[in-house]
Amino acid sequence: MDLTVKIGSIMMSNPVGTASGTFGFGEEYGELIDLSRLGAIYTKALTPEARPGNAVPRLVETPSGILNSIGLANPGVERFLTEKVPFLDTLNTTVILNVSGSTEDDYRTVLEKTGNLSCIDGYEINISCPNVKHGGLAFGTDPVQVETLTASLRKMTQKPLIVKLTPNVTDISVIAKAAEAGGADAVSCINTVRGMVIDTRKRRSVIPAGIAGLSGPAVRPVGVAATYTVSRSVSIPVIGLGGIMCADDAIQYLLAGASAVQVGTGLFVDPRLPLKVAEGIEDYMSENGMEKIEDFHGFL
Ligand SMILES: Cc1cc2nc3c(=O)[nH]c(=O)nc-3n(C[C@H](O)[C@H](O)[C@H](O)COP(=O)(O)O)c2cc1C
Repeated sequence: MDLTVKIGSIMMSNPVGTASGTFGFGEEYGELIDLSRLGAIYTKALTPEARPGNAVPRLVETPSGILNSIGLANPGVERFLTEKVPFLDTLNTTVILNVSGSTEDDYRTVLEKTGNLSCIDGYEINISCPNVKHGGLAFGTDPVQVETLTASLRKMTQKPLIVKLTPNVTDISVIAKAAEAGGADAVSCINTVRGMVIDTRKRRSVIPAGIAGLSGPAVRPVGVAATYTVSRSVSIPVIGLGGIMCADDAIQYLLAGASAVQVGTGLFVDPRLPLKVAEGIEDYMSENGMEKIEDFHGFL
């Protein structure tokens, strides 16, 4: 049975990866699971400068997921090069670097400084960030900015560019098409959904930053619908994520049109989940007489 999937020029050994921000740069999880069995590691977002992140608490549980406002805490590109790259160099797994920034130059700086690294197989561009040059409106909600940013990064690298879409827009397919027009090799959907939890005694948001990002089972139908919509709007591969807690959830995404999937919040429940999801996909294929992922991906 063949579980490999192709995203741009990258061949992944199976479709299941770890979602950005929920797996760090892999070191901690390396003590718990065999990282070489992952289809891909999508790293924590990297920005040019180190970011301490938002005030705590920045994570709160909701009835069917979590709300986070981490604020892109990360070591910055210089410390990434000295502290994280030596470990990533030892891995035999596809590594996709998640890149964030507040301006186009931020993204360009990260690509420039990491462009020669052989341990980075591709980039996932997180566009749910404010573009301070455009008054703070998130890149990811404006198709013109998405196409411009993607095209600018496209000129800088031969490595696959995956644009990560926000669900917090009226029509996600418009943004996906803009990424494709800018030269993206794939899109991933979805990032977190805007949400808020209020402490009624203190009469303020539980998370100091106010509105935060919802993930986990609550957002799965949103992610599946987005994947279904986007995969019909573009001809590049779609990577589906949001609330995958078991193999069946991942199979929903594959049936909806995803070529690959990522597990995020589910890792906090079970660090072995991505491996179990890959095994469950394999079982589903053998039960249904399928030889390869293409036999059922996009079936709907
Ligand atoms: C604690 C936390 C941190 C995250 N950090 C990032 C990030 O740095 N970059 C990014 O593109 N997405 C980030 N995300 C979004 C996830 O990658 C994913 O898109 C979202 O959580 C939905 O998937 P899930 O329901 O499986 O968690 C973060 C999510 C969580 C829960």
